[in-house]
This record gives sequence, C-alpha cells and structure tokens, in this order.
Amino acid sequence: MSSDLAIQVDEARQEALAALGAVEDSAGLEEWNRQYLGKQGRLTALFRGVGGLAPDERAGAGQAINKSKADLESAYTRAQQAIGLREQEARLQAEAVDITLPGRPGPAGRLHVITQTSRDILRAFRDMGFQVYEGPDIELDVYNFELLNIPPEHPARSMHDTFYIDDRLLGLRPPGASMDDLPPVVLRTHTSPNQIRMMRKIEPPIRLIVPGKCYRSEATDASHEAYFSQIEGLAVDKKITLADLKGTLAAFARAIFGSDRKVRFRCDYFPYVEPGVDLAIDCIVCDGAGCRACKYTGWLEIMGAGMVHPQVLLNGGVDPDEYSGFAFGLGPERVAMLRHGIDDLRMFYGNDLNFLQQF
Ligand code: PHE
Repeated sequence: MSSDLAIQVDEARQEALAALGAVEDSAGLEEWNRQYLGKQGRLTALFRGVGGLAPDERAGAGQAINKSKADLESAYTRAQQAIGLREQEARLQAEAVDITLPGRPGPAGRLHVITQTSRDILRAFRDMGFQVYEGPDIELDVYNFELLNIPPEHPARSMHDTFYIDDRLLGLRPPGASMDDLPPVVLRTHTSPNQIRMMRKIEPPIRLIVPGKCYRSEATDASHEAYFSQIEGLAVDKKITLADLKGTLAAFARAIFGSDRKVRFRCDYFPYVEPGVDLAIDCIVCDGAGCRACKYTGWLEIMGAGMVHPQVLLNGGVDPDEYSGFAFGLGPERVAMLRHGIDDLRMFYGNDLNFLQQF
C-alpha cells in the first residue's frame, strides 16, 4: 500500500474521531456520519483511490480502509447511544411536572340539611341500642291504616290526605279485573306501617328505628308539604312500660336539643297507641318564657308517641299478654326548623342553593 494513502487513511480516522468527540447532539451526529461514512464521505473517497494503486497494493489498502471504517462505525454507535441518553434526560427534565403543586379543588357537594338532621337523630337512637331498618314508600292500605286500627270510615283517615295508587300502573291487576280484586295501594302517609312490618319480621325483643319519606295530598303552606320525612321508633319486649318510653325520649330530646332541656309529656290520641302522648321540650328560642316560635306557650311539640295498642301487637303477630311496647314518630324537618330557626317548611325542597348551601 502506498504510504501516501496509508497516511491519508490514518489522518481521516484521527480527524473523524476528533470531530466525533466535539459532536453535541443528534443533528451534529448525523452531519458527522454524512461527512465521514456517507456516500460522499471521506472514507468512500479513499476507497475510490484504491483503484489507482498498483494491483499488489490494492488488497492491503482496502483492508486498512475497511478497518478504519469499522472503527469509526462502532465509535459512531457508541456516540449515538450516549447522545440519545443525554437528550432523553434533557427532555425528561424539560417536561417534568411539579407534583408537589397543590391541586385545584373541584366544587364539593354536601348532604342535604334534612339528611344531616336525620343522621343526627338516628345516631342518638343508635347510641341507645336501636337498629335502623327501612320499609317501602309504596305501601298497602292495610299496613298504612287498617292494621293500625284505622278502618276505612275512621275519622283519623281525614287527617291523612292520601295519595292512592292506581294499581294498574303497577301492573298488578289482571286486565278486566275490578278495583276490588286487589288491595288498595297508597304512598305511605306516615312511617307507622313499619310497626306492623317489623313486628311480623322480627321476634321481640325489638328496638328499632325506621327513617323514610312520607306523602300527603296536601295544600302546601309554611308548615305543610306533600313530601316530608319521618322517623318511626318501636320497642317491644316483656315488661316495657310508659316509664321506658319517657326515659328513652327524654334522653333523645336532650341528645339533640341540649342536655338541660325540660321535657313535657301530654296525652294525645293516635289510634295505634294506648295511651298516646305528645312530647314537647321547653322552647329553645326563649327558654320557656314565650315567643313567636313556641306560639307564646313556652313549649315546642316534637313528636307523637305511645304504648303500642294491644290490637296492633296482635296484628303484628305479638302476644299482648306476654309483651308490651312503645312507639314514636317524629319529623326531621321539624327538628331542623327548630335547630336552625327556619320558619318555612317549603325551603327544604325548594332547591334554592343559596338556602341549602348554608348547611
Ligand atoms: N304516625 C304519627 C304521625 O304521623 C306519629 C306517631 C308514631 C304517633 C308512633 C304515635 C306513635 O304523626
């Protein structure tokens, strides 16, 4: 091989390696590749020179150029890896997200004030050992009325303006069947039908509460709504007396309205209890002095209650000679109105966000 060509090959190699060392990015790398290894590159040009050598020198020269080319190719591959890695790192750095930045909170929802109130009431009774059950909103007339000592002509029915459900809508009545073929169905007007349902389902001793929505076909005003909630309570056991009722409900009233509340029980009438009572607390606004909230009586009535009527025990499959019980029913809306000083029942279901977001 001509020493001239050998020197050129070596120079080209040295120069290429030095240039490669100075390359900084992949664009520069491709440029380098074109310059030294490409079709128009330095080594290709040197190969062309081989043709002009003496025949016995050609093989040696070709080998020398090939060896340099292989060296440069592997140097190129190493540089490619190193630069690729560096560039990836730089990209990751540049695109890094600062995960320590606090997020922007979305608007948070809340529980409806009546749901909050109901949960407070349920908690007070759960703390005294009552369990929570639920019953259907669509109820049989017999459960809502008859088995609670309210037969069709009973005057108490007029206190419950009832939504009757056309059972054809429920798909229960066979075509052509008359109204009398199936029992009437109502939207429950109170949660008391659950007294019967639960006694038929659960063996005494019973201590339970049943929250739920109730419905009355009522002209609405500040203290009447067609849709409202109730919480029913029932305790059945041997030797339950009116004293148990009084103790339980007084403890409840103090848990919800404050530990120094006075309580008052007076006779009241509900067909399914005997005796029946209403429970009042001394007015939480004026402490009993008399104000608009208590209609100047000093007392706020908060629920109806009583000893379960023996006939109702029988209707629930419980032997009144062996067992006795008490029942009560109260309205979370009433409790919420008293607690928060709200004077119009219609606010609760009017969907006025300014009102609801206060709670
Ligand atoms: N069901 C009665 C009402 O709707 C409340 C009540 C329940 C009274 C249980 C006595 C016993 O007002």
